[in-house]
Amino acid sequence: MSPDKRIVVDVDNVTVRFKSFVAVEGLSLQIAKGERVAILGRTGAGKSTLLNLLVGNLAPTAGKVRVAGADPFSEHQALQGRIGMAFQSPRLVPWRTALGNVKLGLEILRRSKAEQDRTARQWLEQVHLGSAVDLYPSQLSGGMRQRVSLARAFAIEPDLILLDEAFSALDEVTAADLRNEFLRLCAQIEMTSLIVTHNIEEAFILADRVILLGRPAKILKTFVASEEPAPGTADFVAFRETIHKMIVGNASS
Ligand SMILES: Nc1ncnc2c1ncn2[C@@H]1O[C@H](COP(=O)(O)OP(=O)(O)O)[C@@H](O)[C@H]1O
Ligand SMILES: [Mg+2]
Repeated sequence: MSPDKRIVVDVDNVTVRFKSFVAVEGLSLQIAKGERVAILGRTGAGKSTLLNLLVGNLAPTAGKVRVAGADPFSEHQALQGRIGMAFQSPRLVPWRTALGNVKLGLEILRRSKAEQDRTARQWLEQVHLGSAVDLYPSQLSGGMRQRVSLARAFAIEPDLILLDEAFSALDEVTAADLRNEFLRLCAQIEMTSLIVTHNIEEAFILADRVILLGRPAKILKTFVASEEPAPGTADFVAFRETIHKMIVGNASS
């Protein structure tokens, strides 16, 4: 069996049960290298459960999960440093500078001190924080903190980046800047990503493919972003409303 190197995420007919409760039901999803996939779904749809499967915090009750060819649960070690994450809250270490925070993942990967420094500075430059490397999180604005968090995720040049509502806590202007930044960085290194968001417009801005999850986590519908109205256009407003209804209409509680 030769795993397809182009497939970074392979979720194959996965079910997750918590006792008798079904949180994920027969979910299959593949993400190819360089692809950006967004997951849209209501609270309780199983979005966090899916992320937990991918980072190996949880084993599926049935089915198979592979990230870059490895089983994240049983081969946790093989995936160390190969998944970058950014969350709604930037989760920076308060007593470390911006530079120190970006170095974190590189330290875990045991890169040399010189390389840690060079790589961390380079990624902070990329997110336009070249002059803020020595500032502490408390000295940074919310948008700057999230830039540090993105730099930290990209600096390890992971096989996969997971965004969990990464832009939800920012004001719209800052969020729009960071979305553009994210797309630019992804394009530079052909990054593969899975983007969890409740923001319909954001999903279509960031992703090539948008997946609507029903409850329990089960694919309701998949959209190819390039075939739908572009975010920001008048047609998108009506399209957005249709999607909103699909998500809300799937309320099972
Ligand atoms: N460890 C757990 N034990 C029992 N139920 C859980 C556990 N984790 C999640 N669930 C349930 O599974 C469903 C999906 O949860 P979650 O993945 O957190 O949804 P989302 O992130 O989309 O809001 C929810 O109904 C939640 O209550
Ligand atoms: Mg969640």
